This record gives sequence, structure tokens and C-alpha cells, in this order.
Amino acid sequence: MNKDLESIVLTKEQIKEKVTAAAKWLDGKYGSCENPPLFISVLKGSVMFFCDLVREMQTPVQIDFMTVSSYGSNSESSGMPKIVMDLAAPVKDRDVVLVEDIVDSGYTLQRMRDLISGRGAKSFTVVALFDKPARRKVDIKADYNCFEIEDEFIVGYGLDYAQQYRNLPYVGILKREIYEKK
Ligand code: PRP
Repeated sequence: MNKDLESIVLTKEQIKEKVTAAAKWLDGKYGSCENPPLFISVLKGSVMFFCDLVREMQTPVQIDFMTVSSYGSNSESSGMPKIVMDLAAPVKDRDVVLVEDIVDSGYTLQRMRDLISGRGAKSFTVVALFDKPARRKVDIKADYNCFEIEDEFIVGYGLDYAQQYRNLPYVGILKREIYEKK
């Protein structure tokens, strides 16, 4: 285990099991669609989940990426998610599936929903790895959540603290002294 972690909350195997279940749910929803849905990874946090998820699916999909940032190196959302890199593909008349690592305050999801709906998507579905309802500031939620978690500072499998720990293959709770020392 990484030395900055207090404990591991989800192992690689536990994550894989939930990712497989999410992929099955998506296959059920989009398997008989005429046109492939457009899967959007909200970077950078969702990258690991996104890649594993689409590779578990049987349904043909198209993929695109958007970089959105609201935390920087802070532990509180700025409340104004910034679009750092926009999509390459138009979403008009597309079935869009947004893939998030975590829905926390809900500001990022709200911003993405407004943006994508405003661009004329045919449908908008959200799949999130984690839901942290205790921190919600906006009344919004994903259509599918893999895990609901307590208000703990978790990192790994894409989730960071000050851009670190994203490449851990498991998810763990960060030691308080790490984020309180600044
Ligand atoms: C994180 C995370 C989500 C968002 C969720 O992104 O990846 O996109 O915050 O928080 P919210 O519900 O409070 O908006 P961040 O802005 O930290 O950028 P990152 O994905 O590059 O880590």
C-alpha cells in the first residue's frame, strides 16, 4: 500500500467487479441502438474508469474527451468548473454517455449537463464510479453509480490529491496529515 494512505477501501478486484456490472448495464441500454453512443471521459479523474469500462462493453461505442477542472490543488470545489479542453466531436443528435470518476458537489456534472444539452444531444446519461452524496451542493445525480462513499478523502484509480496518486490501481483513504500540512 502507498505510504501516504491510511487504508485501502477498494481493491483492484472489487473495482473490476463493479466496472463489469456497469458495462453490462450500458450494454443493456445501448446494445440495440442504431447509431453508436458517444462516450465522453471527463478528464482527468475518469480516465482509468473510462478505459476499463468501454473495454468491458460489447456494444460499439465512439469516444471523446473533455478536460474539466474545478479543484486544482484545493480540497474544496471552486464552484465554477473550468473547461480546459473541449470535445473534438459535435454532440448534436447523439446519444451521449458521460463518464465521471466522482460526483461530489455536483457542480461539474451540472456544468457538463447544461453544456451538452445546450449543444443539442439526443440523450444524456451519466455513469459515475463514485457518488459522495454528503458533499452535494446541487440537486443532481448520475444515472448509474458503482459505489456510494462516505465523506472521506479518497485517491487512486484516477482520483488525485494535487495531481498525485492517480495511477494507484486501488482506491484508498489519504492520511489527513498529507492534505492538512499545507
Ligand atoms: C474532480 C472529479 C470530478 C469533479 C467532481 O475533478 O474528477 O470531475 O471533481 O467534483 P464536483 O462534483 O464537486 O464538481 P477535478 O476538477 O478535481 O479535476 P480532475 O478530474 O483533473 O482531477
